[in-house]
Amino acid sequence: MTLFDRVIARTLPAIPKSIVRRVANRYIAGETVGEALRVVAGLNERGIRATLDILGEDIHNLEQAQRAIDGYIHLVEQISRQKVEATISIKLTQLGLKVDPQACMEMADRLVRRARELNNFVRIDMEDSSCTTDTLRIYRELRKDHSNVGVVIQAYLRRTADDVSALEDLRPNYRLCKGVYLEPREISYRDMRVINRNFVYLLDRLLRNGSYVGIATHDELMVWEAFRIIRELKLPPDAYEFQMLLGVDEQLRDIIHAAGHNLRVYIPFGRDWYAYSVRRLRENPRLAGYVFKAMLK
Ligand code: FDA
Repeated sequence: MTLFDRVIARTLPAIPKSIVRRVANRYIAGETVGEALRVVAGLNERGIRATLDILGEDIHNLEQAQRAIDGYIHLVEQISRQKVEATISIKLTQLGLKVDPQACMEMADRLVRRARELNNFVRIDMEDSSCTTDTLRIYRELRKDHSNVGVVIQAYLRRTADDVSALEDLRPNYRLCKGVYLEPREISYRDMRVINRNFVYLLDRLLRNGSYVGIATHDELMVWEAFRIIRELKLPPDAYEFQMLLGVDEQLRDIIHAAGHNLRVYIPFGRDWYAYSVRRLRENPRLAGYVFKAMLK
């Protein structure tokens, strides 16, 4: 994290909402389900899949969690009605993980069940390290009854290789990413070279074990390594997919897709876009640098 990134993050609250909105527009597909599904339809026309995230996390009571779950159920129903190719991505803190983990588990179960009825898939995003153990426990619990649910693992956490061993019997459907939260050095790697090597190590291991992996990165070196492993293992295109965030490096996205690999774009949307953008930028000033560069472009 450079001084430049830190300065951008600190000054962010002083930037008028309209400017944050202009920058956020690139990364967020509007406020409503209708707006988000229009973005999905545009991507689908070009053969690109989507996963939708309704913004908003860390709620304070179960009524808020209930509203979040109702929103997601409405979303999977609209995806089905409009026949677009999109899964959903959820954050367990939005369903009350920090308020009542058992209630959170029950709400997630309800959502995954409804998604299964509609032939859809639910990805559980991974949040900061205070959520990792509970998230993996709830994932394991959900897998008892459902196969249409997957989880995210983060290459920057020192524990991830052990987590993968512990989950091996389930052969999970994973999303592998580097990890976006700022974590203490005792539990996470700080050196990007180590994070990258761990990413490649984990990817190789998961694909060899027959897990489906959503390879979530915009880092061309990681993409190159993924291509290498896929070629070495002679994997068919339905054994994995690449995943990228809306608005980030669309040129790389098109290169991957044109090379015949499946690609899914992660699409956040919702009324909470401003709070979400500011929170993300405060949490990780490195992102502020990306936003500023995007603004200059
Ligand atoms: P790296 O950080 O090295 O970035 C490579 C290049 O990509 C940068 O130089 C920059 O140009 C560009 N870039 C990366 N991120 C950008 C951004 N946000 N805006 C603009 N440009 C950007 N994390 C997590 O902890 N839990 C999760 O559940 C998820 N889920 C998730 C889903 C999907 C589909 C993706 C792509 C990513 C996530 N992440 C995540 C975020 C992930 O952990 C990671 O922080 C970012 O993807 C950046 O890492 P890269 O692999 O892209 O490499």
